[in-house]
Amino acid sequence: MSVQRRPVFPASDPDEVSSNPSANRPFHEVAAARFSRRSVLASGAIAAAAGFLTGSTGTAHATAATASPPEPTGRRPTLGFTPVPTSDADRLTLPEGYQAQVIIPWGTPIRPGGPAWRKDAANSAAEQAQQVGMNHDGMHFFPLGKGAERNRRGLLVLNHEYIDQQLLFPDGDAEMTREKVAKATAAHGVSIVELVHTDRHGWQVADSPRARRVTADTLVTFSGPVGPRHPALRAADPPRGTINNCSHGVTPWGTYLACEENFNAYFGTEHPGWEPTDLQARYGIDREGFGYRWHEADPRFDIAVNPHEANRFGWVVEIDPMDPDAVPVKRTALGRIKHEGCVTTEARGRIVAYTGDDQDGDYLYKFVGDGSWRAHRARGRSPLDHGTLYVARFEDDGTGRWLPLTHGTGPLTRDAGWADQADVLLRTREAADALGATPMDRPEWIAVNPGNQDVYCSLTNGSGRGGAANPRTPNPYGHIIRWRERDGDNTATTFTWDIFLLAGDPAYEERTDLTEDTRFGSPDGLWFDPDGRLWILTDVSNSSQNLPEKGYDRIGNNQMLAADPHTGEIRRFLTGPRGCEITGVITTPDQRTMFVNVQHPGEATPAWGEPTPENPRAVSNWPDFDPEGRPRSATIAIRRTDGGVIGA
Ligand code: FEO
Ligand code: CA
Ligand code: CA
Repeated sequence: MSVQRRPVFPASDPDEVSSNPSANRPFHEVAAARFSRRSVLASGAIAAAAGFLTGSTGTAHATAATASPPEPTGRRPTLGFTPVPTSDADRLTLPEGYQAQVIIPWGTPIRPGGPAWRKDAANSAAEQAQQVGMNHDGMHFFPLGKGAERNRRGLLVLNHEYIDQQLLFPDGDAEMTREKVAKATAAHGVSIVELVHTDRHGWQVADSPRARRVTADTLVTFSGPVGPRHPALRAADPPRGTINNCSHGVTPWGTYLACEENFNAYFGTEHPGWEPTDLQARYGIDREGFGYRWHEADPRFDIAVNPHEANRFGWVVEIDPMDPDAVPVKRTALGRIKHEGCVTTEARGRIVAYTGDDQDGDYLYKFVGDGSWRAHRARGRSPLDHGTLYVARFEDDGTGRWLPLTHGTGPLTRDAGWADQADVLLRTREAADALGATPMDRPEWIAVNPGNQDVYCSLTNGSGRGGAANPRTPNPYGHIIRWRERDGDNTATTFTWDIFLLAGDPAYEERTDLTEDTRFGSPDGLWFDPDGRLWILTDVSNSSQNLPEKGYDRIGNNQMLAADPHTGEIRRFLTGPRGCEITGVITTPDQRTMFVNVQHPGEATPAWGEPTPENPRAVSNWPDFDPEGRPRSATIAIRRTDGGVIGA
């Protein structure tokens, strides 16, 4: 996300500003110590013996550390496409032999015959609630049918992270009204659409009883230690909605996890005497949020009037895409943070879910189920309601520990002011502070390598808060870290870790693993395809994108790359239009169609300008290029002209 507060062109994004006052040792200090040692080792013979392959130069270079995870095992994936160069053009570029079809742009009716999108943004709130939302983000394809049909028919489920009020309303960001708040909340949440592929028409939206929108107004419920009747959730209205759904997850039992990231952004107040509590401040709640001003028209979002409403957000939300009547459930055992996503895997029959808290200086978490997930399901219980939430601590020697956020253990006692497990979860960030977790440079997506269960996480960028000797302080380009749980068991409470990749432009940054051919910054989306290719999607914020003073002019527009985790080889696969981020990726089971999201094309950026009601096309007019239209987030369905596997 790169939403702007006023003024339109900020010096930074809101999530680049830390709200962590703890004295916990930041990750960049730990990483500095580790890089220093790694560099020493890499220069000696020991490097070749103990190497953990990294780098991206096409010929991977060995680096080492005593506790590094072993090399990836299993079959090496192929990277068979010709890389594309960086681009600052207002268009999508793909490798030769690939083609893209734009599908379900913002405003598309979720069923054929639904209210048509109006290019003057005059659709009502009620119409928006029957259309695809704005700012497509995390996404999964749930196949339907049997056999080969599963590659041609399925439910595409996707998040809508935030909105651009300049593009959503005909009068842009002028006076806020109740109807505008209603349209804005309807443009958030999750879309579930059924897609069908034919050779003649490509991918199209089909009529489906499962098609639905879950918006910021849909009735929801709570499960786990913070139950629906918990006093902290009590407010005038029943709990409604999910908001700022960034990345996502999928459970082994076939449900979708929408994750609530910058929920603080929607609250504000005009009350002169209001000050945030310590807990509200820890979650970044202030008088303005993103500057949407919803509180001026709807007291639901006035933090002084309705403070408990904010406690209803910051959770992982489970949605059953196959049952259109299923009420979304907020699974509170996974904690209340700014969840970027929630990636699951299985180990010893248990569910394991990794989730990062995307703010500068916040933490990485893992939930481990307390028994067989199948046994829980057989008893009618959710495996996500029963288990232990941990937060990560990274040590200098390349090891790490998962610290339990369990009431009554460590510092989380009643004597220390922690009432019960619900209290720990409602105040997850403060509990993690107390445990001594390691502050990270903005954890974004997490991906588990299907070949060896190693876990990778994008640390998109960071301020470098207080590190003395850190060569990546500040860290405007980001890292990708990876770790291996003890004995390859994802339920373990210890791990070893190393840096897979230091992003950057070698013209500006000496300490990067990237080259003239592979340069990029701000990794965000991460996904392993079934062959083991690591797909990397970037979200350089519009406060930096294309700007020489930020070292981002040669990196171009946001992009997507593929990496071989064995060798570190990287190839750039696509570049997006102006002002966008690239996020959300999934393929059909046969890997012959890849769906990718292009989010917020045309957003205000110092490099290109600012969309206005008079000229919403000032930055981009992708994908319609209608001289009277406006830019729209959309999904692209990528196929090879020869019908082959994407990326191979
Ligand atoms: Fe919504 Fe952290 O990206
Ligand atoms: Ca991001
Ligand atoms: Ca993201």
